[in-house]
Amino acid sequence: MFGRGGRGTRRTKRDAEYPPQHGSPVSTGGGSPMPVGPPVPADCAVRLEAVAKAYGRGSSAVHALRGIDLVIPRATFTAVMGPSGSGKSTFLHCAAGLDRPDAGRVLLGADDLTAMKENQLTRLRRTRLGFVFQAFNLLPSLTVEKNVLLPLRLAGQRPERGRAAEVLAMVGLDRHTRRRPAQLSGGQQQRVAIARALVTRPDVLFADEPTGALDTTTAAEVLALLRRAVDDTGATVVMVTHDPVAASYADRVVFLAEGNLAGELYRPTPEAIAARMVDLSQGNTRQRQAA
Ligand SMILES: Nc1ncnc2c1ncn2[C@@H]1O[C@H](COP(=O)(O)OP(=O)(O)O)[C@@H](O)[C@H]1O
Ligand SMILES: [Mg+2]
Repeated sequence: MFGRGGRGTRRTKRDAEYPPQHGSPVSTGGGSPMPVGPPVPADCAVRLEAVAKAYGRGSSAVHALRGIDLVIPRATFTAVMGPSGSGKSTFLHCAAGLDRPDAGRVLLGADDLTAMKENQLTRLRRTRLGFVFQAFNLLPSLTVEKNVLLPLRLAGQRPERGRAAEVLAMVGLDRHTRRRPAQLSGGQQQRVAIARALVTRPDVLFADEPTGALDTTTAAEVLALLRRAVDDTGATVVMVTHDPVAASYADRVVFLAEGNLAGELYRPTPEAIAARMVDLSQGNTRQRQAA
């Protein structure tokens, strides 16, 4: 497994500071020990307060999120895991302002996303958030460089070629600026997508199964890249994944089950994560919450 190789070396200065001293922001029991409401800690990138979301109404409603309280500190790498249907995508969409919760608040720094109008949200997503998806979503007709500069164009900022060169160097593709996506491998395309997500220096980079379409070796490169973005440039990464090895690159793994938080692990091994996932898929969350 590729996760083991990087483990010893990829931890850097953050080792001394993480996890937080006063226990974790979320209890393993899924309760909400963090005081909810202002003031927002200065080092908080994203904060969810009692976030709930259901699809449909009445007896047929699906409660995708049932009141999530979570703080994501700046310059950390968080993985979100859970069985299929546990609410991971809904969580990511609500946290990233792509979808609105029915109840609760989502704060990006001190700004309440849930109180924003749609055009404010759109601007915020373009300027302060980065996105990486399983399907790389590059524009096939544009060169690598133009793809990377697209978020700056959309945000109405000057598309500085120097900045494109900088982020492409960061992902090891600075010699491929003039190629088109189809001339690159899957792993290289995802690295371009990461460069594109980082070009605006976003407050948070959200990734939904970023290695889902990649082979093991290429996935390891992409994960190491996300890790480095956090360690070297202070980026904040929130990644949904179903892969315990991918999640082991994170500082912290947060588990969801049936729309509830179902515990978390700090700096876990892939084996520890896999064991917890087996537990969750066997429906042991209720017992754990009751404990
Ligand atoms: N647009 C939707 N309409 C109806 N139900 C949905 C919709 N999106 C998600 N759901 C349901 O909400 C629950 C959580 O879904 P999701 O957030 O996609 O979970 P995950 O990403 O962990 O698989 C599931 O039961 C799913 O079927
Ligand atoms: Mg999903």
